[in-house]
Amino acid sequence: MPDPMDRRPFRDLSYGLYIVTARDGERLNGQIVNTVIQVTSEPPRLAVIINKKNLTHGFIKRSKVFGVTVLDDSAPMIFIGPFGFKSGREVNKFEKVKFKVGTTGCPLVIEHALSVLEAEVVDEIDVGTHTIFVGDAVSSETINPGRPLTYRFYHEVLKGKSPKNAPTYIKEK
Ligand SMILES: Cc1cc2nc3c(=O)[nH]c(=O)nc-3n(C[C@H](O)[C@H](O)[C@H](O)COP(=O)(O)O)c2cc1C
Repeated sequence: MPDPMDRRPFRDLSYGLYIVTARDGERLNGQIVNTVIQVTSEPPRLAVIINKKNLTHGFIKRSKVFGVTVLDDSAPMIFIGPFGFKSGREVNKFEKVKFKVGTTGCPLVIEHALSVLEAEVVDEIDVGTHTIFVGDAVSSETINPGRPLTYRFYHEVLKGKSPKNAPTYIKEK
């Protein structure tokens, strides 16, 4: 079937890149997302969009908390790779990265990090393949000075791809 959509307008949307983290008891996990937004200022409220197939999805659903690391543009592909292309079902993503444990118990990655935040889930919106988790911020901290890693920089400079579980994935024709 030919794709009736012009895909260029979708690629024109701009994003940052983040690691969203979660825990399930003692198990820690995290994944790359481009879909963290601040939804309201009062209260400071965030939303993240997570594919239902990801290990992180079940962790957030059960624990009702998540962490966010805002990545800086020093993050190389070798660092991004495990978080964006591997599942925590196969690898322990926290074995080799620097992190601390936040007040919610979520791991917060502090390497290649501008800042970290944590949120408690107050709403979940089922949008088909993904869930939008809305959370009230319960902590926030600046980690390092620097420039945020943007989706554009990721594609153009790091030559990164969008995998199947990313909301921005486009099927090869
Ligand atoms: C650049 C980039 C952006 C991504 N954005 C999202 C996203 O917004 N939401 C999502 O669910 N997955 C996204 N992904 C895919 C997940 O990071 C990937 O499926 C990960 O392996 C899931 O890990 P897990 O099974 O350990 O949770 C993105 C991946 C990359 C590389």
